Amino acid sequence: MMRENVPLSTLTTFRIGGPARYVAQGNSVASVKAAFAHARECRLPLYPIGQGSNILASDASIAAVLLLMQNNSIAFSDTSEGVEVCADAGTSWDALVRACADKGLWGIENLAGIPGTVGAAPVQNIGAYGSELADSFSWLECYDPDTETIQRLTGAECAFGYRDSTFKQNPGRIIMRVALTVTRSGSPRTQYADLSRLIDAGEVLDTPHAIGEAVRRVRSAKFPDLTEYGTAGSFFKNPTIVLDQYTQLQQQYPELPGFATSTGIKIPLAWILDHVLDLRGFRMGHAYLFQNQPLVLVADAGATCVDVDALANNVAEKIFNATGIQIEREVRSLS
Ligand code: EPU
Repeated sequence: MMRENVPLSTLTTFRIGGPARYVAQGNSVASVKAAFAHARECRLPLYPIGQGSNILASDASIAAVLLLMQNNSIAFSDTSEGVEVCADAGTSWDALVRACADKGLWGIENLAGIPGTVGAAPVQNIGAYGSELADSFSWLECYDPDTETIQRLTGAECAFGYRDSTFKQNPGRIIMRVALTVTRSGSPRTQYADLSRLIDAGEVLDTPHAIGEAVRRVRSAKFPDLTEYGTAGSFFKNPTIVLDQYTQLQQQYPELPGFATSTGIKIPLAWILDHVLDLRGFRMGHAYLFQNQPLVLVADAGATCVDVDALANNVAEKIFNATGIQIEREVRSLS
């Protein structure tokens, strides 16, 4: 089914964006091929958009065919390493987390409550509370419009990084389904401060179900409720800086947290926004930084992309002026 002139404000969690020329629904290889054929005929690009939970769309009309995947079955099978769970791209990510937890399967419980679809999860290698998609990833199948074939990719071929993958670097292929390896026995990963605090307070987090529920609770205390607020979660990536720069910043801000990674020291931007710049709740026009987690940008009802861009650019500039750190957006632009 092909819809015409559909406002992106109805297709994204920011609730911002002008009309997309076409929106196609995909539930099979044939329907995805048909959407590409239509895009070629109209000489328009085609973009998959999932649940639109990580997209800032421009206010002007968007000359593209947007593809919404609707396939949503989940299948479990036993393997030598545990259990393989294979989910269609249109499945809600959190529905997959719940389906695994219901069977007592370990692996993705820390990723509970992340909005979006299974097909979008590998694009930015979703991560939270000490785990990321790449940790449980087995393989995925994607449709390549250039060869008109389905390709099966391993984790290495997906080139996962922090909020990064080959799909972000080389857009064009459409993820059709994703397989993960989950396990019947496992141990809780609760080292992340927000979760270890709950354990210290006496909570028993010993099943994927209990952890998933705790993570959803922590998230909802921190992040705006998508049914109430226009937002796309963390707007910027947490920056990674070199050790020298970190040491220098620490002289000025001795409490500045930093986590060593293979590429440098990762800094929680929320800490800088809060303690260096005092920007919790900072508002410009119709957009502001969320009080409980200033890395999250929120747009009022009726806000425009221009409002969000202005705030985001202003915040990036303030960070650069105060720390010399150049930050990158996590949310993807669509125009
Ligand atoms: N902090 C403050 N003041 C605040 C909030 C936070 O100083 O008001 C400091 C604290 O030191 C805190 C630190 O910032 O420990 C980090 O904050 P938090 O743990 O809330 O999360 P984050 O590191 O900013 C990342 C992901 C989130 C994910 C959380 C939990 C990115 C860009 N964001 O945020 O992912 O849920 O960790 O693991 O990596 C998303 O991608 O949309 C997303 C929500």
